[in-house]
Amino acid sequence: MDFQNLLIQNKGRIQYIIINRESKLNALNKATLAELHIALTDAFKSDSVGGIIITGAGTKAFVAGADISEFADLDIKGGTELARLGQSTVFDVIANGNKPVIAAVNGFALGGGLELAMACHIRVASDNAKMGLPEVTLGLIPGYGGTQRLTQLVGRGKALEMIMTADMVTAADAFTIGLVNHVVFPDDLLPKAEEILNKILSRAPLAIASAIKAVNAAAKDGVNGFETEIQGFGNCFGTEDFKEGVSAFLQKRKAEFKGK
Ligand code: COA
Repeated sequence: MDFQNLLIQNKGRIQYIIINRESKLNALNKATLAELHIALTDAFKSDSVGGIIITGAGTKAFVAGADISEFADLDIKGGTELARLGQSTVFDVIANGNKPVIAAVNGFALGGGLELAMACHIRVASDNAKMGLPEVTLGLIPGYGGTQRLTQLVGRGKALEMIMTADMVTAADAFTIGLVNHVVFPDDLLPKAEEILNKILSRAPLAIASAIKAVNAAAKDGVNGFETEIQGFGNCFGTEDFKEGVSAFLQKRKAEFKGK
């Protein structure tokens, strides 16, 4: 499928989803979010895609936020619907996806852009990246999960400081507070993201999906994460991949997982 605001590139079992509105610093307008929903749903269903890397076109921005030009005419109902739709169709889809998703943060990741990166399972940043949640400068708060995911990643005190001051943090500071997993030179950004993803893709896919679900359960109200883990652990014993993993270990060879 051809997208207006996304570039899709496949490299082996890795699919790149590139937000492609460089002249607007890849800001997420409604059309881009709708396309992201389609691209993500397709990628999670596709047998040929093992994992996803999300990045932004150009060298300046990952995503500089939700598209502010679409905010002007919204009222309370419209704002509520915008956040609810975005969370359910894009941000939660990524976070709850059954395949690993890595954000390659190649520049500004602000507002909805940082929320997009935080919805991903792992974040790698180039050393020139800048991250922040500047919504209060617009009279708003983050609406795509930012208050929850930033708190989970960096803790309440640092999250409240970033959200209330609207200050950006450097990639180095983001690494120090646990907001990003790795910081690399710009030229090393995609190779590093691929290296991590390829390693994950060499592991048992159903176990990876189960691990994502169990870890996510830690942050879900009304869900017993320990019980989710017990169920997930038990279900792994019914997979061919488990038999292959144990046989390979005992036979001192590399496991060939099939995701079954
Ligand atoms: N929504 C809509 N358009 C955006 C945007 C956003 N979030 N962020 C950047 N753009 C647009 C600018 O309006 C400009 O468009 P124009 O050339 O048609 O005027 C273009 O992208 C380039 O941005 P510009 O502001 O000229 O670049 P800069 O280098 O001077 O500043 C930023 C970069 C990121 C500091 C600045 O663009 C910014 O503050 N953006 C908004 C960040 C924000 O508040 N995000 C949270 C939204 S909830």
